[in-house]
Amino acid sequence: SQSIFAALLTAACVGAFSTTPAPSTSALLSSTSSSSTQLCEAKDHEHAASPVYDAISTNTAFSSYQTRHAESISNPSAFWAKEAHKRLSFFTPPPKSHPTIHGSLEKGDVKFFPGAKLNVCYNAIDRHALARNGKGGNDVAMIWEGDEPTDTKSFTYNEMLEKVSQIANALKNQGVKKGDVVTIYMPMIPELPMTMLACARIGAVHSVVFAGFSADALGARIHASQSQFVVTADIGLRGTKKIPLKDIVNDSLTKFDNENLVDKVMVYERFYDDSNEDEETEDSEAAPYDMKPKDIRMNPLVNKMKPYCVPEVMDAEDELFILYTSGSTGLPKGLVHTTGGYALYAAFTTQTTFNLEKGDIFACVADCGWITGHTYVVYGALLNGGTTFVFESTPMYPDAGRYWDMIQRHKINVFYTAPTAIRSLMRYGDSIPKKYDLSSLKVLGSVGEPINPEAWRWYYENIGNSKCTVVDTYWQTETGGHIVTNIPGVTPMKPGSCTLPMYGIDTVVLDAQTGEVVEGNDVEGVLAIRQPWPGMARTCLGDHKRYMATYLTQYPGYYFTGDTVYRDSDGFIFVTGRCDDVLNVSGHRIGTAEVESALVGHPLVAQAAVVGKPHPIKGQSISAFVMLVEGAEESEDLIKEMKMEVRSGVGPFASPDQIVVSPSLPMTRSGKIMRRVLRKIVAGEADSLGDVSTLADPSIVDVLIEKAAP
Ligand code: WTA
Repeated sequence: SQSIFAALLTAACVGAFSTTPAPSTSALLSSTSSSSTQLCEAKDHEHAASPVYDAISTNTAFSSYQTRHAESISNPSAFWAKEAHKRLSFFTPPPKSHPTIHGSLEKGDVKFFPGAKLNVCYNAIDRHALARNGKGGNDVAMIWEGDEPTDTKSFTYNEMLEKVSQIANALKNQGVKKGDVVTIYMPMIPELPMTMLACARIGAVHSVVFAGFSADALGARIHASQSQFVVTADIGLRGTKKIPLKDIVNDSLTKFDNENLVDKVMVYERFYDDSNEDEETEDSEAAPYDMKPKDIRMNPLVNKMKPYCVPEVMDAEDELFILYTSGSTGLPKGLVHTTGGYALYAAFTTQTTFNLEKGDIFACVADCGWITGHTYVVYGALLNGGTTFVFESTPMYPDAGRYWDMIQRHKINVFYTAPTAIRSLMRYGDSIPKKYDLSSLKVLGSVGEPINPEAWRWYYENIGNSKCTVVDTYWQTETGGHIVTNIPGVTPMKPGSCTLPMYGIDTVVLDAQTGEVVEGNDVEGVLAIRQPWPGMARTCLGDHKRYMATYLTQYPGYYFTGDTVYRDSDGFIFVTGRCDDVLNVSGHRIGTAEVESALVGHPLVAQAAVVGKPHPIKGQSISAFVMLVEGAEESEDLIKEMKMEVRSGVGPFASPDQIVVSPSLPMTRSGKIMRRVLRKIVAGEADSLGDVSTLADPSIVDVLIEKAAP
């Protein structure tokens, strides 16, 4: 079977590239940087433009990619066993002779290294603190920069070990036990990653909810995971704006049966001053928020705790965390990631994709509330013994030079952000980044949505000084880490393309209708994965059936990503969109169903349909079509109220840019809303609506074009 896999790989992704001489429009570029990057321009496809770079014709590292990738997917058990032994410390290692991977995608019972024992927090902190006879403890584990550029802190591995242990002991002190779900609703302060790590240390399952979600959304997640513990902060800060997180938590407890469910609300204080602590008068100064009976002041409690906590021995398949994410229908899904596989994949991809080396300062500026923050703010760099940079503020505060200023001041080596941020910063011109010394950078990353070639090029030239590799990392909450990306100095870059599969990832393009594998290049289809990988989510919390139906049974034998792709004539992958109704606004994944159900929460809204509209900065913005109840009148106030419904039902980041009140919605005779029609209308593509004859009332289309076309 080895040769079959190798042959398939060649056909699937690299054959055409390696055997076809570079055509004149395509150029391979050897960078002058130490990571020796290559750049390969795309040809006749709308997703890639073609600037001219100096060309060279050889790329020796590329063949090493081909060999290693082929090996990794022809014998995945051996590949991942070797990586696990290399990258993780086990209390009980996985046996070397035994298969690493158990179960299958068909059955949906995938397990990596079951029976092996480890602790992820121990792997992220202790072993680095203990390294080099304890000298490793003085290495910097985390640099934090707050809302104000002058507000920075850093923590060595020793300090991390102490602080995380104290938090772990505080959690235990409040009754948290192995297997309990701890909901974390916090701003980007050092205690956020530390609390996640503390949960991992004691075997509690963290469920981080992005602090931009509303009380309703938070309440729904607390309820769905039956979480008895909530950790929060009094306020969050973003560009001097204060976000009343504790009030939102209070409100979330009034939803469902949460008042009875939740036992403890543990509250950090954003401006807590340790130096004011006094043995005698401890806690005497009032909390800066209205304390409820369940509230626990975390800062003084943590400070009182012993600075060491024995890490819990976990099975590789024990749950590490839950993270809710949006699908096209129904409530958000709580994806479950497990200990061994996730940790291995986080460590492996961080090191591979970013070429992370000892001493590197790694800045992923995502929020810990999303998967990018989990894997690449909290776990990835620390599992590699690197320095992770944690950022509380926004790219615009105090001005549009904030990121570049941080890179200069902290000598950041790897910088990882989303295309939406790049596009919004580009608007301020090249002169802003030019003011800063960005020479510490070696790799720049992009994540969350396709990056348009203009933004790619701006990032490459102005931030990377045409010397850094730009990695376009494609992945999902479900995949745990990057699954398709270029690799610095190893595989070529191509603006707009996430390029080629990661080692161990057996990608295929499937025909959406037939489910047949589409071979060759210059083809389109849906992206799927043919073999399990360690970082894949194992289930949806409490609903394995939904997990199976969403990811594994649509195309039996494959993990289905839900994304459509184009594989260009060189075998490089371009993500072209979603097959379902999931929206991607500023890199935030939002379900249409969540926004729609918030809209119909307004008493005057009878029905709602939400679609994404192309947006130059956000990627997509939200357009909502609503049908009012009999007798209701459209007004400006009503539109405002509807937006408020979305802000309170989901969160401010999901607020629609456009709300169109319409006499009816384009529905099929069976009552299904044809969002395709709405998408075309808001995109200004009403001339290519396609077949609308199945609509119950085709005349509605003209009314909608009149009201909603740009
Ligand atoms: C999209 C974020 C193109 C894609 C890590 C995917 C991308 C969804 C890229 C997952 C990329 C993410 N190029 N599209 N480099 N990265 N996506 O779960 O549609 O928040 O399915 O995970 O974002 O979003 P999620």
